[in-house]
Parts: sequence; C-alpha cells; structure tokens
Amino acid sequence: MPLSVVVLAAGQGKRMYSRLPKVLQPLAGRPMLAHVLERARALGTEGIHVIYGHGGDEVCAAFADGDLTWHEQAEQLGTGHAVAQALPAIPDDHRVLVLLGDVPLISEAALQALANPAEEPTLSLLTAELDDPTGYGRVQRGLDGSVIEIVEQADATDDQRKIREINTGLMAAPAAELRDWIGRIDRRNAQGEYYLTDVVALAASDGVKVVGVLIDDAAEAMGINDKLQLAAAERTLQRKLAESLMRSGVTIADPARIDVRGELTAGSDVFIDVDTVFIGKVRLGDGCRVGPHAVIGDSDIGPGTVVHASSVVDGAEIGAGCEIGPFARLRPKTRLAAGVKIGNFVEVKKSGIGAGSKVNHLSYIGDTTIGERVNVGAGTITCNFDGAMKHRTTIGDDVFVGSGVNLVAPIEIGVGATIGAGSTLTKDAPPGELSIARSRQTSVPGWKRPVKAPVKGPAK
Ligand code: UD1
Ligand code: MG
Repeated sequence: MPLSVVVLAAGQGKRMYSRLPKVLQPLAGRPMLAHVLERARALGTEGIHVIYGHGGDEVCAAFADGDLTWHEQAEQLGTGHAVAQALPAIPDDHRVLVLLGDVPLISEAALQALANPAEEPTLSLLTAELDDPTGYGRVQRGLDGSVIEIVEQADATDDQRKIREINTGLMAAPAAELRDWIGRIDRRNAQGEYYLTDVVALAASDGVKVVGVLIDDAAEAMGINDKLQLAAAERTLQRKLAESLMRSGVTIADPARIDVRGELTAGSDVFIDVDTVFIGKVRLGDGCRVGPHAVIGDSDIGPGTVVHASSVVDGAEIGAGCEIGPFARLRPKTRLAAGVKIGNFVEVKKSGIGAGSKVNHLSYIGDTTIGERVNVGAGTITCNFDGAMKHRTTIGDDVFVGSGVNLVAPIEIGVGATIGAGSTLTKDAPPGELSIARSRQTSVPGWKRPVKAPVKGPAK
C-alpha cells in the first residue's frame, strides 16, 4: 500500500511556557519537528501532511521545503480532530502513518514496523513499557493479549493507571478504515477532546486486527511536553550521536561532554576533548585534535590540524597541519592554507592566510589577504574600518611585520617587506624594504622624576 504520513504539530505546548511553538523548540540544534520530518522522509512516502495551528506562520516558515502539505487546524480539538484535517487529501488506498511532532527520537525501524504490517487491514500502534507511565495513554489488552483500547491518563481508573505499557501516540491504519473510525469518535471524555486513540477500540470492535508493536528502546518513544523532557531528550540524542562517532573510530574524551548541534563528520584518529560544541555542518580531517572547550561551527578543518583550548571557529576553511589557539577566534570567511599558526587572542575575519604563515599573539586580521611564510608580530591590527566603509589589506609572501603595528587599509605590503615594530602605516610598503612609521626615540639627560611634596600635618 502507498504510504501517507500525517504529522501532528498544532499544539501550543503550554507546558513549555515559551513564545516559541513547541515543535520549533531546538533539539540537537534543529527544531524538534525537523527530526520527525527526517524520519518520515526516510520511509519513502507518497506525501507528508503537517497539521499546524499555534504559531502557524512561524512553523510553516521554518520548513519552506516543497515536499510538505500543510493543513491548518484552527482550533485544537484533539489528536483525532487533527488527523481529520489531512484525511480529505489522502486517497482511500493509502496506508496512513500518524507521527507526533513532539515525539522526535523515534527510530526508522520502529516506523517501518508500523508502515508495513503482515496483513491488511491492520491498525498498528507503537507501544512502550515504562517504569513511570504517568501522563501517557495506557494500552489495555484483553485476556488473549490483543489490544482492545487506549485509555488516556485523565480518563483512566486507578487500576488502569498501573498499566506500564503506554501508547507512544504513533499509529498506522488504512485510510478508508481510519476515515470511518475518525468520523465516529466523540468528545465525551475528561479533556473534552476528539482522541485519536479512540480509533483503537472502534477497530477492535469492528473485528479489524489491532497490533501493538512494543518498541525495544523505550527512550525513543519519549513525548516532549516540557523543558525537563526537552533536556532529557537532548541528552539521549547527544549520547547516541557520540556513540555513533565513537563506533566510527573517533576518540571522545568524555561522551557525556560533547554537543553536536548539526552534522559532524570526522576522519580517522580524530580526538575530541571535553566540552566541545559543534554547530551546523562541521568536517574534521584525519588526525584532527580539538578542544577542550572549543566551539566549532560550519567549518571544514584539514587533516592534522589542532584547535587548542577555548577557541571559537565559525565559518572557516582550515587547511592541513594548522595550529589554532588556545583562545583564538576565527570568524566567517576565514581561509587558512596548510601549516598556518593562529595563536592566543587572535581574531581573523574574512581573510585568507597563505601556507606556513603565523599570527601568534593578540592581533586582529580582517578583510585581509596574507601570502605564504609571513610572520605577523604580536598586537598587529589591520585597521579595516574607516567608520563608514571596510577596506582590504594585502600582505605579500615572506613579509615580516613587527609587533604593535597598525596597517590602515586600504594598504598593500610588498613581497619580502619588513615593517618595524610600533609602526602605523597609512601608505603601501614597497617590496623587500624596511618600512618604519613611528616617532623617533629621544632621551632627556639629567631629567629628574618628580617627587611627592611632604604631607603637612597639624603642628604638635
Ligand atoms: C498523546 C496521546 C497519548 C500518548 C501521548 C504520547 C491522544 C489522545 N493521546 O497524548 O495516548 O501516550 O500522546 O506522547 O492522542 N496536537 C494537534 N492538535 C490537537 C492536539 C494535539 O496537532 O488538537 C498535536 C500536538 O501538537 C502534539 C501531538 O499532537 O504534537 C500530541 O498532542 P499532546 O497534547 O501532546 O498529546 P498527549 O497528551 O501527549
Ligand atoms: Mg504530548
């Protein structure tokens, strides 16, 4: 049967106490809903229908991808009512898989089990056994073990609340049957809502096969309703990401102290020290070492490069065998060729630095092109901003810039030039020559340092 997926994402998420709609709350650097959609796409569906309501414009804008069909649920009258919004757009001969926007950790394998039952018609629902089932719908099974109904927490008797098998909220059924059952559910329950879960009892009484698929790893079924559950889900996901990196050969100093908020790919013999955060798309070449306490975003780092402690790298392309930091900051559009050294308290922005060049201490390099084998002394500033416009600095190969130099852009330093320490250069420096631009030193012979006048106290 062709598969249509319906994702419920209209709820406000009251228990989040947040301006941001629940399904946009970030998990591993991406909105919660992005994780659910990724799983849905992996199944190879005929269509993905997203039910939105609260924060609608914001939710739709966050997912401009063309493969989604959006259905507004103006009033949130319950999960059954939510699914009903999409059903008119789904043909009778499709199987419908319902996913929840707030159950993002679910594995593809679990969804495959729901999507492909042994026979049709089958209503499949994903269940989990929890030590603490509080808040979830409970799975009521008959004497023969078959599922007969789902009872919501608010409607359950004390005995039913003791049931540890819960409804993950994810289920699948043929569209024709689902349409019929949803047409028959009502709001006579403790929450006054159209419960999707009521279709289970209807299916059972219609004699349709109801299969409860018990999930192996209950952590996958976690529903996220508040910030505590959001944090727990984040840790679960981070642990999984760390495990998959370690399985592929990455050495992680402490798998509980790495955060991947995006996509990290790493070569062989990579070492990641504690409290390192990766944001967006990051690639680490063979033999890279990063951290501790580094933040690396949207960057490509060449083989053998070391990013030392407390460095921040964002939007940089770094060649092989470079050394960055400790305490360095590489900002977007930084390109370092092989063997470049960027030392402590150095900031580089929108600049290219050639092979083997060094900027070792306390410098700002912005809007600059630096050639190969250049040495930039401590405390050098490229003065790129005149208050209105940015200007470029160009430094040729084999230049030596002394300490404490200001290069007022636009300016070009010729190949092999030497710039004397403490210079403020406002004109181009010719190649191969020494340029110095600072006041001459004078000494005053016989000069006496002033001394404090003696304090006059009251006469004794
Ligand atoms: C639901 C299930 C419960 C299950 C739990 C798993 C029902 C009645 N209950 O309860 O059995 O154990 O999930 O986490 O289905 N939504 C809409 N429109 C609505 C109502 C909800 O789109 O009118 C969306 C929400 O945004 C959310 C999802 O559906 O993404 C689930 O709704 P929620 O209110 O969180 O249901 P639970 O009480 O968690
Ligand atoms: Mg929920």
